[in-house]
Amino acid sequence: MKLYERLARQMSEQIHAGVLRPGARMPSVRGASRGHRVSPATVRQAYRLLEDRGEVQARPKSGHYVSMNWAGLPRQVEKSAPSVRTTRVDVSELVFEILESVKSDAVVPLGSAFISPTAFPLNRLARSLGSAARRLSPHRMLADLPPGNLQLRRIIARRYLDSGVKVAADEVVITSGALEALNLCLQAVTRPGGVVAIEDPTFYSALQAIERLGLRAVSVPTHPRDGIDLNAFADTLDRHPVQACWLMPTFQNPVGSLMPEDRKQALVELLAAREIPLIEDDVYAELYFGSVKPRPAKAFDKKGLVLHCSSFSKCLAPGYRLGWCAAGRYSAAIDRVKLTTTLATSIPVQAGIADFLVHGGYERHLRRLRRALEIQQTQMVQAIRRHFPQGTRVSRPQGGYFLWVELPPSVNSLDVQRVAMSKGISVAPGPMFSPTRGYTHFVRISSGHPWTPQLEASVATLGRIVDGLS
Ligand SMILES: Cc1ncc(COP(=O)(O)O)c(C=O)c1O
Repeated sequence: MKLYERLARQMSEQIHAGVLRPGARMPSVRGASRGHRVSPATVRQAYRLLEDRGEVQARPKSGHYVSMNWAGLPRQVEKSAPSVRTTRVDVSELVFEILESVKSDAVVPLGSAFISPTAFPLNRLARSLGSAARRLSPHRMLADLPPGNLQLRRIIARRYLDSGVKVAADEVVITSGALEALNLCLQAVTRPGGVVAIEDPTFYSALQAIERLGLRAVSVPTHPRDGIDLNAFADTLDRHPVQACWLMPTFQNPVGSLMPEDRKQALVELLAAREIPLIEDDVYAELYFGSVKPRPAKAFDKKGLVLHCSSFSKCLAPGYRLGWCAAGRYSAAIDRVKLTTTLATSIPVQAGIADFLVHGGYERHLRRLRRALEIQQTQMVQAIRRHFPQGTRVSRPQGGYFLWVELPPSVNSLDVQRVAMSKGISVAPGPMFSPTRGYTHFVRISSGHPWTPQLEASVATLGRIVDGLS
């Protein structure tokens, strides 16, 4: 156990024993550092750990306090501890089974990766699509083949610039959703049998892509707040011949972590020193709750080694299947793989989205969506606190719409999923996100739907199922 963990445990014991009561001020960093004979940095780390667990709260310019409702708040999930060996991946069957089960709109979609369709300006988008298609010159059917519609690529490049990332329109390749971008990137930078570093747990489509291309995965432990553990990551790169990394530094799916900028920079530098490409999966970037958009790792890329992939699927137009990658030195290679696989992305859809971005009120829509998602997250966390058994822990992401929920260790999340589905409720069980079908007592729960009494009742039912299985 590290020094700060030991200190956090001592403080936690005082809280649990009632020596420090809810609302009480914790010792100052300097005071605790003197009292426990540790450095101020160690005390700060201990406080961060206690904050994560919901036991203390930091108040700006005032210090740390025992959380008013620490006893009731679900604790935050801690860092994962995956195997350090490379593994062949085998999740597809499980994922297909579960994806099939969430298609029906009669099912309460707590396991879904899609938010409520009512959150999107679908009528306004349809107007843009119609008017752009009517104006489309026949010549564009050829001109907009890969890398894609120039107006759209320029708008995307300008949006990068707005968040401080230099990307030229020429670097952007338009794709059919982010998933195509990610798959093209993986194909362009790996050879069969190669090793790909991934977070663990990770997005199941990353696992499926690795499986399909006959690659091997090596997992890096990840924390639900700060993302991958950089020390463990450097160690992984020393030990394995990693050909590429596929990571989600911003609002990771499923845990929701956000790597702070200095860590994103350190990550890019670590890879640059070894000339290893980073496929950055950044589909949730627009869904931040803070006042500024988190910059991607791509912002720190000096060598063209970061292949940044995103889309409009999560923030504007699900179903339109429009995404892109800004692939640095690999752009031309991606263009070619795209030309030889799907040839092009729907040309009217590219024109329609470009029209919406210019005339449709995108920023206003995004502001509304972010606000709604933030409120829904709080509602869902509180409902889990009300209805789930003691010992449940929940992540608190700063954006996106996933909660990573750790159930009491005796509960098997595949059983939870099976029983919940029989009652018309979906959840995404932990093994979907693991190359070795781990995380057997975790579920990913979506907070992407507006709060209703039915939703509350479904969370209550789910809580009873978990309780019954514990
Ligand atoms: C992390 C992550 N990356 C990529 C995708 C796929 O994005 P798209 O629908 O644009 O292909 C998803 C969708 O669930 C996702 O969660």
